[in-house]
Amino acid sequence: MTARERVAGNVAGYVDDRTGAAKYLKKSLSKVFPDHWSFLLGEICLYSFIILLASGTFLTFWFDPSMKEVVYDGEYAPLQGVEMSAAYASALDISFEVRGGLLMRQIHHWAALIFMVGIVVHLLRVYFTGAFRKPREFNWIIGVGLLTLGIVEGFLGYSLPDDLLSGTGVRIAEAIMQAIPVVGSYLSYFAFGGAFPGEMFIPRIYTVHVLLLPGIFLALITVHLMLVWYQKHTQFPGPGRTEKNVVGYPLMPVYMAKAGGFFFIVFGVTAFLGAVASINPIWLYGPYTPGQVSAGSQPDWYMGWLDGLVRMAPPLETHAFGYTISWNILIPGLILPGIMFTLLALYPFIESWATGDKREHHLLDRPRNAPNRTALGAMALTFTLVSLINGGNDIIATTFDLTINQMMWFARIGVFVLPPIAFIVTKRICLSLQRADRELVLHGRETGRLVRLPHGEFVEIHEPISPEKAWTLTSHEQLAPLELPEFDQAGVRRPAAIKNKIRNRISRAMAVAVPKATETERKELEGHH
Ligand code: HEM
Repeated sequence: MTARERVAGNVAGYVDDRTGAAKYLKKSLSKVFPDHWSFLLGEICLYSFIILLASGTFLTFWFDPSMKEVVYDGEYAPLQGVEMSAAYASALDISFEVRGGLLMRQIHHWAALIFMVGIVVHLLRVYFTGAFRKPREFNWIIGVGLLTLGIVEGFLGYSLPDDLLSGTGVRIAEAIMQAIPVVGSYLSYFAFGGAFPGEMFIPRIYTVHVLLLPGIFLALITVHLMLVWYQKHTQFPGPGRTEKNVVGYPLMPVYMAKAGGFFFIVFGVTAFLGAVASINPIWLYGPYTPGQVSAGSQPDWYMGWLDGLVRMAPPLETHAFGYTISWNILIPGLILPGIMFTLLALYPFIESWATGDKREHHLLDRPRNAPNRTALGAMALTFTLVSLINGGNDIIATTFDLTINQMMWFARIGVFVLPPIAFIVTKRICLSLQRADRELVLHGRETGRLVRLPHGEFVEIHEPISPEKAWTLTSHEQLAPLELPEFDQAGVRRPAAIKNKIRNRISRAMAVAVPKATETERKELEGHH
């Protein structure tokens, strides 16, 4: 034993005598996790969150969350002598005078963008593979909470510097608050401590941004990861993988090394972007004054769809009992996002209701084998994408020489027409892929080798696929549709007849599939070859 090993052993023994950690650690470190590249997406969220905490802490040392009026007297000459809030002035100082400050600001901003991309792509992987099914519904709901908080946290973050762009965003938030019937104007006065913009807003959102929300994030992420640990990770179907086992590698040393390396890759990419790619150059926008809006104002991408929905709303207003209800803001700004996030959170329960499948699932679905779910996802994505495109309607119009009206009508029509088309096309593609799988199992792989038979006919040689591959393509189950009774034994309509009829219809649509190749069919064809 070398001296170094002896010292390490002594320290470990000392800690174990006092905490009894060795037994627990031994068990935990050998815990097995399955392997697939898409399982790294959750890790990207985790690592960019850590980068956000570290870079954000650096920024708090110099940022002054105050709306006190000051006259700028710093390094950036074009703004010298301009009146601005202390918050904006301190953000300029971080950018131009604090050593490494601009790099940290840019790393923080890029990390926020990557964090949100990570969350959305991770959510899509969980959705399209059916990883949200029993027993992981709670973790799905926690995830939807994290997504919502991420959007709010990002919005508050880029509102802090009090530049012209961020002030414009806060003004939109005020409009959305005011659109709530009856209590809206009270709520806005409460949030801003009086009339907009007032002097309270930046200090208040600062506390929420650096203390309250990060605290909630930490708590939710901890519970999220504990649940992944406790419920075990799902795995893709394959030989030897069942609903009862986990095939993969141990945490120590394989995943410790992978995770450590991956953290540094995420950190490296973020730092590289922070170093070379300018993001949110607030000095170009100038300080916020409520009377100005700069052309081409854009929110960060994860807010863009919401902005796009508001931009495409027709000017609908109702005046009743001395109140004005601005439907043009209330519907796209609050009601629609409310419905979208509620449906998203409830999706695991809606699906299990529709299919009648209440069992546990630890093996993932290949997206093609759940055509309706995949098509629904494509439909929701298309809706969000059209809204997001409309969030940049002014920039797109000037770039491609279009009018803002053309963009708006594209969005207004597209948001209704394109999602159903996406649904139909995706479902067809899934069913075609199922058919292709069936062909592959029954007739083997096309080799591209043509052979001429003695009587002159040309045929292509097919090679049988490996038994492992055949297993992977056929191991999924194909659910039979529900057949809930509409009449009782005496032939009388049941009280739940209508509900049962609707469920039967939906579950029939959910069960549409190309029958997978069976062992008997395979054997039969083998005889023919
Ligand atoms: C701060 C944001 C988040 C962090 C740090 C995070 C982290 C993670 C990690 C590290 C894993 C295990 C690796 C993996 O499957 O990718 C995981 C799994 C999971 N996450 Fe997240 N996640 C976040 C947001 C979300 C969101 C938005 C959803 C969905 C709405 C979600 C739902 C799930 C589910 C259901 C699992 C279990 C997946 C399985 O076992 O296959 N998470 N998460």
